[in-house]
Amino acid sequence: MVKSSESVKREEGASTTYALVTGASRGLGKEFAVELAKRNINLLMVALPDDGLPELCEFIRDRYKVECAFHETDLTRQHSISEMVNWALSNFRINILINNAGMGGSKEFESAGAEYLDNMISLNIRALTLITHQLLPELKSHRRAWILNVASMASFIPIGYKTIYPASKVFVLYFTKGLSQELKGTGILVSVVHPGPMKTNSFVTNRINRMGMFGRIGLLTPEYVARKSINMMFRGKSLIILGWLNRLTWLLMKTVPDSIRLPFITKLVKKELFASQQ
Ligand SMILES: NC(=O)c1ccc[n+]([C@@H]2O[C@H](COP(=O)([O-])OP(=O)(O)OC[C@H]3O[C@@H](n4cnc5c(N)ncnc54)[C@H](OP(=O)(O)O)[C@@H]3O)[C@@H](O)[C@H]2O)c1
Repeated sequence: MVKSSESVKREEGASTTYALVTGASRGLGKEFAVELAKRNINLLMVALPDDGLPELCEFIRDRYKVECAFHETDLTRQHSISEMVNWALSNFRINILINNAGMGGSKEFESAGAEYLDNMISLNIRALTLITHQLLPELKSHRRAWILNVASMASFIPIGYKTIYPASKVFVLYFTKGLSQELKGTGILVSVVHPGPMKTNSFVTNRINRMGMFGRIGLLTPEYVARKSINMMFRGKSLIILGWLNRLTWLLMKTVPDSIRLPFITKLVKKELFASQQ
């Protein structure tokens, strides 16, 4: 069931503005929300139902003295996206959009369930695209507005046993670059951040630990990634890669031939995947 904060009908010409953050209940999304609240920015937080979003929103409201409203919904469903956007547009003025919700994971393509594949594509690609599309007129109505899309270092390399995830994050990169060109001169600044590994939840943490030294290359805390990304977003930096190791990896990925880098990284992921199944 969809649950939202009490609606307060938006008044025409209202000057209170909000940042909408998807996947805000935990991990990087929660850190984005906290970072924005620290800067006195009001929040609209979106995540799946029953994962503590109302309590987190209340905590942020009390701790940082900002306005905070939430909407619990499953963004893999197309009608839920429109419902969420309608809720946001009918109640609030929005000048910041952080498209953070996304899912990853490793699976052999052939044995992955159709629902798993469809959910990843729907959340990582469709939800991000449609939310941006439906909020664009509202963002444009402000003198200055910001969009921050969350991709991954995985957007720079295709990986076996992770076939859909890097491909979905390439979409995020190309979509952001194209949109940023299209919106030049409108007052909307569009950025994409490419986090490396972050220990955001137990599933990702176990995966990083199982991969040993290679899993930790470019490892940063979600707090750091959120803080730096928000700084750079406000400065209008379109491509955000954080930490010198991630920047070095990015350069290496551009120079090392596919025939070397693709089998190497695929072997690592395969080893980690099979170790997790034993
Ligand atoms: N962690 C990493 O190592 C890493 C590396 C590079 C990029 N990234 C990217 O960073 C972003 C955040 O990752 P994370 O590790 O912080 O993720 P996370 O800990 O799994 O948190 C995901 C967030 O998205 C929400 N969410 C998941 N499925 C949803 C759905 N169908 N509808 C609505 N909300 C949904 C979750 O809500 P609930 O709490 O209610 O489930 C949660 O708030 C993702 O785009 C990910 O691809 C992560």
